[in-house]
Amino acid sequence: MAETFLGITNAVNVPASHEITGHKSVREALRNTEKYSSDLQGDADVRDYRQIPLEVDPPRHHLYRAALAPYFVKPTIEKMAPDFRKNSQEFIDQVLPSGTDIVSSFALPLVMRNLGVIYNRPQDVAEWISWGTSAWTAGGPERNGDILHRHLDAIYEEAIKNPKKDIWSEIARLEIEGRVITHDEFRGIASVILAGGRDTVVKLITGAIWHFGRNPDDFEYLRQNPDRIDAAIQELLRFLTPNPAMVRSTVPESTVKELPDDRYVQISFLSGNFDETVFEKPFELNIRRERNPHVSFGFGPHTCIGNHVTEIEARVFIQTLLDSGIRWEISDSSKIHFYSGPMASVPAEFESLFVRIR
Ligand code: HEM
Repeated sequence: MAETFLGITNAVNVPASHEITGHKSVREALRNTEKYSSDLQGDADVRDYRQIPLEVDPPRHHLYRAALAPYFVKPTIEKMAPDFRKNSQEFIDQVLPSGTDIVSSFALPLVMRNLGVIYNRPQDVAEWISWGTSAWTAGGPERNGDILHRHLDAIYEEAIKNPKKDIWSEIARLEIEGRVITHDEFRGIASVILAGGRDTVVKLITGAIWHFGRNPDDFEYLRQNPDRIDAAIQELLRFLTPNPAMVRSTVPESTVKELPDDRYVQISFLSGNFDETVFEKPFELNIRRERNPHVSFGFGPHTCIGNHVTEIEARVFIQTLLDSGIRWEISDSSKIHFYSGPMASVPAEFESLFVRIR
């Protein structure tokens, strides 16, 4: 789990001293890449390379982003929907009724199985599952990059020596600005596309099971109105805000030697998603909400590249759940950490979730 500052967590574990809040200010800041730069070194305790394209500013950002985009566009991911469905069906039939923890035994392995489909690497799925929800704590409670880096180095070596028709081989030979990318650039790209979409999607899938287990009427509404599944997913994304904040630097770090300590600014997606001037009754999870300009995927040039992956996986999962006819309720033994104050109804983290079949 990323370190907590200013009451919420930011995804690159950097101590921000200022925070930008509110829907309008958050969107403006995310668009203003000259004032609020992504040229920064996050997670300095566990890595010494940039995550790409996350920690690169335009215009260079665009070169990497354009090279990666074809792997994540809607038509590419839609082709995988039958495999996502097979995976969802298996977990709904075999794991949901088993009474085991949904986070570690259902959501995490399902999301990793789907990732194995997306990257055509079924042979890596068991290892990805063994890391748990965060790749930085794969070996135990302490943050450590060794396990992730050993894996990334092994796939890099394999991609260089014995190229296959998979994303890693293609990325390892990627040409940016007229040269093939370096080993560190490979690490930077591979780590974010491998590790970026795990705890976030796991929270979304877990949160969907939590919400529909407590609100069977909403589940019945979707059964009768399947055309509203996509809108329900957007509302789950808003309410759960799986990535609550990101950090920007007021000084691009690769441009100067002396860096001021107070350069980091935290941009709170969470505050944007619960802004009462934009969302009516924001503290209610309302799947019938019509207008939903949430900022869970960010905004501007760094908008999440995995948004279609997330939406299609979630849609297939919810559709399969509806078709299965299964009904469940949430057990009190679940460990859910909620935010406080007006957000006391909003789950910050699902440590575990247990269900009982009805
Ligand atoms: C519920 C699911 C997800 C959420 C809430 C989420 C959230 C975000 C957010 C807020 C950003 C913007 C960061 C910034 O502005 O600095 C982002 C960027 C990114 N996400 Fe996601 N993400 C999710 C799933 C995924 C998945 C499934 C993948 C890949 C398989 C992924 C890969 C990335 C990458 C590569 C970036 C960097 C984009 C860039 O800098 O141009 N994400 N994500």
